[in-house]
Amino acid sequence: MAGSRNKNNPGFMGWIDDRFPATAMWEDHLSKYYAPKNFNFWYFFGSLALLVLVNQILTGIWLTMSYTPTNEGAFASVEYIMRDVDYGWLLRYMHSTGASAFFFVVYMHMFRGMLYGSYRNPRELVWIFGMVIYVALMAEAFMGYLLPWGQMSYWGAAVIVSLFEAVPFVGPDLAQWIRGDYLISGATLTRFFALHVIALPIVLLALVVLHIIALHEVGSNNPDGVEIKDKKDENGIPLDGIPFHPYYSVKDIVGVVVFLFVFCAIVFFFPEGGGYFIEAPNYEAANPLKTPPHIAPVWYFTPFYAMLRAIPPIAASQFPGVMVMGGAIAILFVLPWLDRSPVKSIRYKGWMSKVAIVIFAICFVILGYLGVVASTPMRTLVAQICTALYFAFFLGMPFYTRMEKTKPVPERVTG
Ligand code: HEM
Repeated sequence: MAGSRNKNNPGFMGWIDDRFPATAMWEDHLSKYYAPKNFNFWYFFGSLALLVLVNQILTGIWLTMSYTPTNEGAFASVEYIMRDVDYGWLLRYMHSTGASAFFFVVYMHMFRGMLYGSYRNPRELVWIFGMVIYVALMAEAFMGYLLPWGQMSYWGAAVIVSLFEAVPFVGPDLAQWIRGDYLISGATLTRFFALHVIALPIVLLALVVLHIIALHEVGSNNPDGVEIKDKKDENGIPLDGIPFHPYYSVKDIVGVVVFLFVFCAIVFFFPEGGGYFIEAPNYEAANPLKTPPHIAPVWYFTPFYAMLRAIPPIAASQFPGVMVMGGAIAILFVLPWLDRSPVKSIRYKGWMSKVAIVIFAICFVILGYLGVVASTPMRTLVAQICTALYFAFFLGMPFYTRMEKTKPVPERVTG
């Protein structure tokens, strides 16, 4: 039990443990947390998400020291950071590239969960906390993007906030309440700043703690979807488990090194990411009187943006599109209850689940592409088909996971 270990021992750690369960926490979460021995590539992304979170918080704190959250000062203060602040350019690029890296890592992390059925009983809450993290992360990124106060910051926020106007009855009042004004203005900028640097980071950190506590309560899943707690030795240690520390703490360093190579290459040689990480119109200061010809969100939002555009307005109301976009995120919350397969991992599911998840992933990528480019009638049709397939993946799941023939799951984890 946490709290009862290493008490009344001489020495510094004994003194600490009499007052705070340091050894117990170290053991419960690291040196005696038994993780399945067959983690693969996909399991790097949890620790990488933690790394990127720390990067965002640290670079964010230093950016805040030189940033001015006002209508008059914001754009110029970012230029000042880029040109005059010592290593300001590095801090800014680490933060802007970090935002894209965060979504890449989280998308891979979520897809791993979908591949191996990590959302299934008993890990539903791990998944739900993850989904709340995802929504909070989207809000965090959206608000952060307004802060450089460039043209895309301004008009991107204008488009997204105006979507709230589509909500029946309260829409216009709601949008005005979010902006704090009749249009995006300095008032919006200061409140987004407060939420971006204080409120949402606290929420995100708290959620990550809950996410990991929930995971460690039930134990990690693995690529076979076999519960390692079902087979224990005489000391109660899972036969297929290995202590997280030192085995995975060291293994995760490999992922961190590879990640940092790619991350540094982008930060130093390709920080704008060809316009995908920092968009060209954002080098021009926000101008409420001049709409850019083509407004698109950053790549990590574009799959949902493409869905929004694919749904035609009814009586000039965007509400149906907003509902579909919101539904595409909301449906992920109930994923644990849609999957009725007798097995967890894709390795042992039938061909229907395999085909379905491949189509789902392809559609998500296509939608992501369609969300960045200007729409044409042909592209709208493709976006509509992909949106339909995206929902079919989820809505069909209770049926195809029960109908298909699954493979026998091994007793113990495989290599
Ligand atoms: C800030 C963002 C996040 C951080 C720092 C984070 C961190 C972690 C860590 C460290 C683990 C254990 C290591 C691993 O299994 O990879 C984990 C597991 C897990 N996470 Fe996250 N996570 C984040 C977001 C999410 C999101 C958005 C979801 C899904 C909606 C999610 C779902 C899961 C699931 C299902 C597991 C258990 C996986 C398994 O045991 O197979 N996480 N997370």
